[in-house]
Amino acid sequence: MSAVRSTQVGIVGGGPAGLLLGHLLARQGIDSVVLEARSRPYVEQRVRAGVLEQGTVDLLKANDLGERLQREGLVHEGLELRFDGIGHRIPLAELTGGRAITVYGQQKVVADLTDARLAAGGDLLFEVGDVSLHAIDSDAPSIHFRHDGADHELRCEVIAGCDGYHGVSRDAIPAGAVQVYVREYPFAWLGILAEAPPSSEELIYCHHERGFALHSLRSPELSRLYLQCDPSDELDVWPDERIWEELRTRFATRDGFTLNEGPVVDKLITPMRSVVVEPMQYGRLFLAGDAAHTVPPTGAKGLNLAVNDVRILAGALADWLASGASEGIARYSEQCLEKVWRVQHFSWWMTSMLHRPAGRDPFEHKLQRAQLRYVTRSRAAATTLAENYVGLAGA
Ligand code: PHB
Repeated sequence: MSAVRSTQVGIVGGGPAGLLLGHLLARQGIDSVVLEARSRPYVEQRVRAGVLEQGTVDLLKANDLGERLQREGLVHEGLELRFDGIGHRIPLAELTGGRAITVYGQQKVVADLTDARLAAGGDLLFEVGDVSLHAIDSDAPSIHFRHDGADHELRCEVIAGCDGYHGVSRDAIPAGAVQVYVREYPFAWLGILAEAPPSSEELIYCHHERGFALHSLRSPELSRLYLQCDPSDELDVWPDERIWEELRTRFATRDGFTLNEGPVVDKLITPMRSVVVEPMQYGRLFLAGDAAHTVPPTGAKGLNLAVNDVRILAGALADWLASGASEGIARYSEQCLEKVWRVQHFSWWMTSMLHRPAGRDPFEHKLQRAQLRYVTRSRAAATTLAENYVGLAGA
């Protein structure tokens, strides 16, 4: 026997997409339940991306989620492209009429959203297992799951699949009902979090013949660093000393750049792929965030795309559930996909320009260098990078 209850929107996944959707819906009087497979400490501690576009920051602030973000977020008005041992600053704000990005760890966004939801008495269940979706092509879909040792059935008007790339939502759609576009890249990123003061105030995207490297940060005491590595590498071939040596080599400049080092407190290898599921809807199931699309991290876009989906979905669902207006939900997928594909292109472009090509193809290497020189010398080309990086308004 299952315990049965009802809600308007059943949200699968308590990451940034699911939690923000629940938050935006609650502000419009729509009831939802958020189901998360992991524990609360796990979700709030796992180190993820950290770059918020201007539009993402504006949306969080406009919805009462900006208090800690305002205090701890680090506003960046430029970034550095480094190649041939020389750094070139791209003045993001100057090129985009004052727009900037904010460095603020994704797990902080998740913690802020969790606090807001629990403070408002919203339903959020952690450590939910055996999740399955039912009757998603009818007007009475439901979610079955286990929680606290019991079986549950959640009857919904709509289900939002916000459970990421490995979640169950996308697989609930019958094969053939959606088209899945995939591009696998022949490299991965090894990311570390180190207890070392950042070696530069701004992010450094570094192209080097040994492979790409990225310098980022989380606070005045914490550096976040990435290295291009082989997708088949296991963490045990990357002891800390090898990581630092490789980072020193790739970031070295002609004028003696020094990389600050310190204890490594987190280490992870992430594969790189681009995926888009089209359409992002099937019956009463709406996909949002990584459940619908993933981008390689080079453009720093994953979280921002998820926020854009959820912004559109929350508005469309509120219109429909409150007043029966269905134009918004009918256009949900089409509206999201426009930005999804723009961002796919930008992320693919940044990735292709900066990484060591497979097989070290010399022709491709020459093209990359030509492109890097162009982007750092031409104001038009630099503006293309800048406006995509801070987030194009309206696309
Ligand atoms: C990060 O700080 O984790 C980060 C920054 C920029 C990227 C990807 C990740 O492109």
